[in-house]
Amino acid sequence: MSDLKLGLQEHYSRRPILPLIREQLQRKGIDPTQIRPEDLYPYDQSHAGGIAATWQLALRAGIEQSSVVVDIGCGFGGTTRFLRAELGCRVVGVDLTPTRIQTARELTRMVRIEAGIDFLVGSALALPFPSEFADVVWTQHVTMNLPDHAAFVSECARVLRPSGRLASHEWLRQRDGELPSPLPWASTLELNHAIAAREFLDLLKRNHLEPEAEDVTAAMCDALTADIASMESQGALPERTAAFKNLVQAARDGLLCCWMIVSRKP
Ligand SMILES: C[S@@+](CC[C@H](N)C(=O)[O-])C[C@H]1O[C@@H](n2cnc3c(N)ncnc32)[C@H](O)[C@@H]1O
Repeated sequence: MSDLKLGLQEHYSRRPILPLIREQLQRKGIDPTQIRPEDLYPYDQSHAGGIAATWQLALRAGIEQSSVVVDIGCGFGGTTRFLRAELGCRVVGVDLTPTRIQTARELTRMVRIEAGIDFLVGSALALPFPSEFADVVWTQHVTMNLPDHAAFVSECARVLRPSGRLASHEWLRQRDGELPSPLPWASTLELNHAIAAREFLDLLKRNHLEPEAEDVTAAMCDALTADIASMESQGALPERTAAFKNLVQAARDGLLCCWMIVSRKP
């Protein structure tokens, strides 16, 4: 197994969220047998902007009840469950980190929506699906960890059906310069592989996808700033808040930007 894969699995296994979620739901007085997917949204969306950003991307991607969606780098499965619960589509979540997939399955059982949802351990660089499998390939906050963006985009293009869309919500390099450390996706900079925004757009076009991009950096920084204040009031570990502060600072310094890109396969 590569050092990067081991490093990412370690990084993304550091913060088990199940005990935290159980405690928070109990505190809110929610009956453990009646937990709804939306009760988890404050905890299971591991990206800037939380559930509002997820809704925004879902509307832009034009997902329908009949759609088959692949959620790459699904993490705790927050978006996977959201897409199934709110839009009724069939969703498969894939993630490199086995502990995240275990948690995703457990949370999905907790809200009783296992039908129409699958979770697999797998890599964004070699997707475990046949060609033309999906109407939508979805990624939120994953490309910053990928060492080979060309392989990733080529895999997405392969797995999409004609007229399918790659819906992505990603932090990208806006200009050259030294990034701060830690960042939320990289406890050390060896784990960071954020690609330049222009390079990512070029890759999409070279794979015959038609990208439409929206720069959402300012809104994501505002959302993160509010999250940092709430983390600090709840006594979060300084290392965790430092990573989010570094991200906001890097974005405000013009080193990183956050884009939602919906890329259509003709
Ligand atoms: C910041 S989390 C985002 C999780 C989820 N997309 C969300 O927004 O809630 C990044 C996730 O990408 C996964 N990941 C990183 N590299 C990957 C790869 N090569 N293939 C699949 N998943 C990967 C990590 O294990 C982690 O769960």
